[in-house]
Amino acid sequence: DKGNHRHFMQKEIFEQPVVVAQTLQSYLRPLEEQVALPQMDFELGDIRRVTIVACGTSFYAGMVAKYWFEQFARMPVDLDVASEFRYRQPVLEEGGLALFISQSGETADTLAALRHARAEGQKIAVVVNVPTSSMAREADLLLPTHAGPEIGVASTKAFTCQLAVLAALAANLARARGKLSADEERDIVGHLAEAPAALNAALAHDEDIEAMAHLVAPARDVLYLGRGPDYPMALEGALKLKEISYIHAEGYAAGEMKHGPIALIDENVPVIVLAPSGPLFEKTVSNMQEVQARGGKVILISDAEGIAQAGEGTIATIEMPRVHPLIAPLVYAVPVQLLAYHVAVAKGTDVDQPRNLAKSVTVE
Ligand code: M6R
Repeated sequence: DKGNHRHFMQKEIFEQPVVVAQTLQSYLRPLEEQVALPQMDFELGDIRRVTIVACGTSFYAGMVAKYWFEQFARMPVDLDVASEFRYRQPVLEEGGLALFISQSGETADTLAALRHARAEGQKIAVVVNVPTSSMAREADLLLPTHAGPEIGVASTKAFTCQLAVLAALAANLARARGKLSADEERDIVGHLAEAPAALNAALAHDEDIEAMAHLVAPARDVLYLGRGPDYPMALEGALKLKEISYIHAEGYAAGEMKHGPIALIDENVPVIVLAPSGPLFEKTVSNMQEVQARGGKVILISDAEGIAQAGEGTIATIEMPRVHPLIAPLVYAVPVQLLAYHVAVAKGTDVDQPRNLAKSVTVE
């Protein structure tokens, strides 16, 4: 049932504050100001390396997690798309944890990768939205997301719930490795607990974003730029746009632009820049200015401070609440989802059932 919404995707985008809160409930103990994980039969502190494997949007959640595990837990992390993982003969040593992320828990490539990692002696952790799925059954550590059934082929709420679980896992890993003081853990719990309200604040810009759809809908190509954990968010923005609006889109690490894609820039290629205020802001903005200097049309997604500082010369800005860098990827998911959604609606495509795609990809 779509309720008051025109599409399942739209309904699922708007469910995010509630389902992220629901998911966080299982991973936060606000009274103790601690993060918590389900029981497991191994010690997180014994893990020497994490290998993250997934496909599509779930892969981008894993890419954000790589930044977090490295930054907070100083954990060495490997990351791969499931369809490549087995074939490159990855070196999987003792003490490794292999982490699989999947909405459906049935994606054939990811499941095959899981079985390969198990055969190679890895501990298996899974982040899945379907608790009865094959991956859930085959895990040593099951980390469920509580997004509820996701019907739209374009993944939205499952993604932000994956990020919530992965942030909590990052904090657990950091604690287990002695990299997190009680004070830092309290801060992380506080920031994560603010995520649902921040998602609501992001959703409040729905109409502004709808009004911008005409800036993107006529384009043949669109670029998304981000840095640090917002680089995977740029990739996710581009994936959402191409899968439901059929516009060719690419996500790029902001600093990598000048090594090639800048040649594409002209007034017909909208460039969406994801740049929350923070330590990476200045650098991303200077990449954005390189685009503007070449006549590129920029849509800047940032907070009020960022927009005040760098909004000039853009064709549009989308204002996000100012949030801690840890929850920025969750919050910045919303504008890229909404932009893809409204562009697809403007183009009249089949938003919930895009051509050539299936909700769960069960062939390798
Ligand atoms: O069920 P999974 O999370 O394993 O699915 C992985 C991808 O097929 C999925 O994320 C796909 O990329 C979506 N259509 C993206 O919106």
